Amino acid sequence: MARPRVLSGIQPTADSFHLGNYLGALRQWVTMQETYDAFYCVVDLHAITVPHDPAELRRRSRVAAAQLFAAGLDPDRCTVFVQSHVPEHAELAWVLNCLTGMGEAARMTQFKDKSAKQGENAASVGLFTYPILQAADILLYQADRVPVGADQKQHLELTRDLGQRFNHRFGETFTLPQPHILKEVEKITDLQDPSAKMSKSSSSPQGILDVLEAPGPLRKKVMRAVTDTGTEVRADDENKPGVTNLLRIQSALTGTPIPELEARYAGQGYGTFKKDVAEAVVEAFTPIRERTEKLLANETELDRMLAVGAGRAGEVARRTMAMVRDRVGFLPRA
Ligand code: TRP
Repeated sequence: MARPRVLSGIQPTADSFHLGNYLGALRQWVTMQETYDAFYCVVDLHAITVPHDPAELRRRSRVAAAQLFAAGLDPDRCTVFVQSHVPEHAELAWVLNCLTGMGEAARMTQFKDKSAKQGENAASVGLFTYPILQAADILLYQADRVPVGADQKQHLELTRDLGQRFNHRFGETFTLPQPHILKEVEKITDLQDPSAKMSKSSSSPQGILDVLEAPGPLRKKVMRAVTDTGTEVRADDENKPGVTNLLRIQSALTGTPIPELEARYAGQGYGTFKKDVAEAVVEAFTPIRERTEKLLANETELDRMLAVGAGRAGEVARRTMAMVRDRVGFLPRA
């Protein structure tokens, strides 16, 4: 039997992915390429839903793709591509736009959060329809599963609703995808504010651990991470959110269960513990940073790898779009 298909996307909106992206997405994408027919997309169309700089977007798209390969996505085992290389994403998004109710789109909480940040009327229509473009990304590939963080649940529900609506109105066309919620995303918090998610848009630089950061600054940030009063290294979300976050990070990076870590650091205070967390982070990120730098040093080869991905993605996308065009009633071009 064919492997079930997964599709996921990540925005090229930062100069580096951070630890939350790494544990919550990248690392699990790498695992999933072994058992799924996996498509991973650098979603540059989504990146222009907020004001952007063109040269920066182009650079960040390459940096994002390079980090995906460097983290272990293997072009022989999965398909990595850039969204704008496959024009069918925008084309399907248009059709889905026409199936989405204004009220339905207006209920999306991520739009409400993001547009509030920009000032009510400054937000673009593109930001408003962002989740519909995301639905197009997913439905285009007939994905069975979509690995995402818990914050994307509502977008996945919209995707299923739109797929189902299309199938109902125009005939069976789309696979309805299941969300595959990645747990760690919601759990890795800002080092300076353990009550907030580690996030490029809301964390201060001191609160974020970047994959491409040098060992020195990485160590410094971990050593300066907010801990809690007391000296005990113990997981306790309520009373010790800072220490708990560091325990989660170390456990996720080393594979050591948290109770074992608690036992190891019993009676030792925070110092040794933090030093070990810092080393675990440096050890995980250094090979990825070095491979990313190597990939970025040869843009021709990197762009060629992305062209191969776009070729494979485009084949699937064109097949779906041909069905969509026919069912919607667009006149075939002679
Ligand atoms: N909205 C997703 C996020 O912010 C990114 C994304 C775009 C995506 N298209 C996708 C995720 C398709 C999964 C599938 O994380």
